[in-house]
Amino acid sequence: MLDVSGLTTKYGAISALRDANLHVGAGEVVGLIGPNGAGKTTLLGSIAGLLVPDAGTISFNGNNITGAAPEKLLRSGLALVPEHRRIFVDLTVEENLKIGGVTVSNADRTALLDEMAEQFPVLRDKWTTSAGFLSGGEAQQLAIARALMSKPTLLMMDEPSLGLAPVLVDVVFDLIESLRAAGRTLLVVEQNASRMLDVADRAYVLRSGEVVAEGTGTELSQREDLFDTFIGG
Ligand SMILES: Nc1ncnc2c1ncn2[C@@H]1O[C@H](COP(=O)(O)OP(=O)(O)OP(=O)(O)O)[C@@H](O)[C@H]1O
Ligand SMILES: [Mg+2]
Repeated sequence: MLDVSGLTTKYGAISALRDANLHVGAGEVVGLIGPNGAGKTTLLGSIAGLLVPDAGTISFNGNNITGAAPEKLLRSGLALVPEHRRIFVDLTVEENLKIGGVTVSNADRTALLDEMAEQFPVLRDKWTTSAGFLSGGEAQQLAIARALMSKPTLLMMDEPSLGLAPVLVDVVFDLIESLRAAGRTLLVVEQNASRMLDVADRAYVLRSGEVVAEGTGTELSQREDLFDTFIGG
C-alpha cells in the first residue's frame, strides 16, 4: 500500500530524515518509534505532503505521490492525525467533523457523521460544544474521528497518546485496537514504545533521522541494543 524509498528531508542544511525506507501493507498496523528529534514527525509530514522531500520516492497504491499536495493525498485515501491534534477550537465537534469530510460526497459525509457519533459516544454527547471545551482525551478522539471522516485507506497518527493521563492513554490504545480489528491500515508514531510494540504488526525504529531497526514487536522488544532508544522515548 505505502512504500517509502530512500527518503531524505531537510530543514535548510539539516537533514532531519536520511535515506529512510519503510513499507506498510494493506491491513497492517505499523509503529514508528524513536526518541525526541529522531525525525518521526518529519517522516509522516513528508508522506502526507506537508513537507517536500529532498530525495527519495513515496508510492501509495502503486502511484508515485512524492511531493504531491496534501489535499490530493487526502482525496486518494491518505489521512494524518497531526501531532498536538490541531482541532479547530472555535468550532463545534460537529463542525470539526464536517471539515474532516470536505473531500467526500455529501451522502458519504452524512453517513460518516452518523458512524462517528456511534463510534465515539464521548463526541456524540458534546456534538454542539466548541472543541475548545473538550478535555485532552476527548480532543484526541475528535482529531482521530475528523481524520476518519475523509474515508482514509491509510490512517497515520502522530503521537496520539502524547500528554494524556494514563487512563486516557488506555482509551487511545483501545481505539487503535478497535481500528485494527476493523481492518484499518495504520501507521502510528508513538513514544510509548512498549505499548506500541504490543499492538503493532511491525515497527520501525528511527534515531537521528535514520531507520536503525525494523521488525515485529516481539523481535524489537528483545533487542537489547535498542533499549536506550525505547527508554529515551
Ligand atoms: N521546522 C523546522 N525547522 C528546523 N528544524 C526542524 C523543524 N522541525 C523539526 N526540525 C528538526 O528536525 C529533527 C527531526 O524533528 P522531528 O520533529 O521530525 O522529530 P520527532 O521524532 O517527531 O520528535 P518528537 O518526538 O519531539 O516529536 C529535529 O532535530 C528537529 O529539531
Ligand atoms: Mg514529532
